[in-house]
Amino acid sequence: MQDHPDAAQDSQSPVLATRVGRVGLLTLNRPRQLNALNDALMDRLGADLLALDADDAVGAIVLTGGPKVFAAGADIAAMAEWTYIDVYRSDFITRNWETLRRVRKPVLAAVAGYALGGGCELALACDIVVAAQSARFAVPEIKLAMMPGAGGTQRLPRAIGKAKAMDMCLSGRMLTADEADRYGLVSRVVPDDMLLDETLALATAIAGFSGPALMAIKESVNRAYESSLAEGLLFERRELHARFASKDAHEGMDAFLGKRRPVVVHR
Ligand code: CAA
Repeated sequence: MQDHPDAAQDSQSPVLATRVGRVGLLTLNRPRQLNALNDALMDRLGADLLALDADDAVGAIVLTGGPKVFAAGADIAAMAEWTYIDVYRSDFITRNWETLRRVRKPVLAAVAGYALGGGCELALACDIVVAAQSARFAVPEIKLAMMPGAGGTQRLPRAIGKAKAMDMCLSGRMLTADEADRYGLVSRVVPDDMLLDETLALATAIAGFSGPALMAIKESVNRAYESSLAEGLLFERRELHARFASKDAHEGMDAFLGKRRPVVVHR
């Protein structure tokens, strides 16, 4: 990992990995194919995500694309010849796209331009989506007689409700950044020229907090999508109780009472 996004990179790599302070920055890098998400890219992205997740010097991860395109979806040229048995045997999507689900640190998507199909689904699988004004979100797979298959039919209804999700999935409707903000698909919209700075500032602020507390919160919020309210509340309560076993929580409360800045040790 480099220490600055402008540091020298292997420009051939489908994902560029750099570090900005305690933030890992991953940039999708297939501009000629509008960052179409093929296996090489998704394998690389998964490996980079796991490396950053295991790196104690990293507290949060930002995933971004280019200034005009976040990602135009799964690679249609790669998929065109695949058969059922090909994708079943290789466990398409689950095998590499879902690595993102294993990441315990906060992952922020910084989206400018098109986030289509699998690109939209990739953003949705992140914990926070920051959109530039130019961002456009759609799941247009129906136009290929395909379907959103990287979580879109499940995460969209949870994020924006059944009515809007059905509209997007069945018609391929494209949302502007402001619509995506209104519907709850993204958490904030910023001017294009501020996208990376704003997202890195947000990620840096998050990365300064206690790592185990962040993990507990992320796990608890995700549990809200995967359990009943009673189960989710029980899970949350156990995670809350576990905070009392952490040095950082005692330090945080002590620092507040002592009117000083806490010293976070991520323990
Ligand atoms: N896969 C492979 N190549 C793609 C691609 C994709 N998803 N999207 C764009 N490209 C390629 C184009 O084929 C083209 O390549 P060539 O220069 O070799 O012809 C290049 O990127 C530039 O694209 P366009 O000429 O089409 O650029 P444009 O500015 O006119 O249009 C666009 C931009 C609206 C994004 C258009 O490219 C487009 O509609 N792309 C496809 C979007 C899509 O259908 N995504 C869903 C994919 S399926 C999926 O994601 C399944 C899943 O859930 C996992």
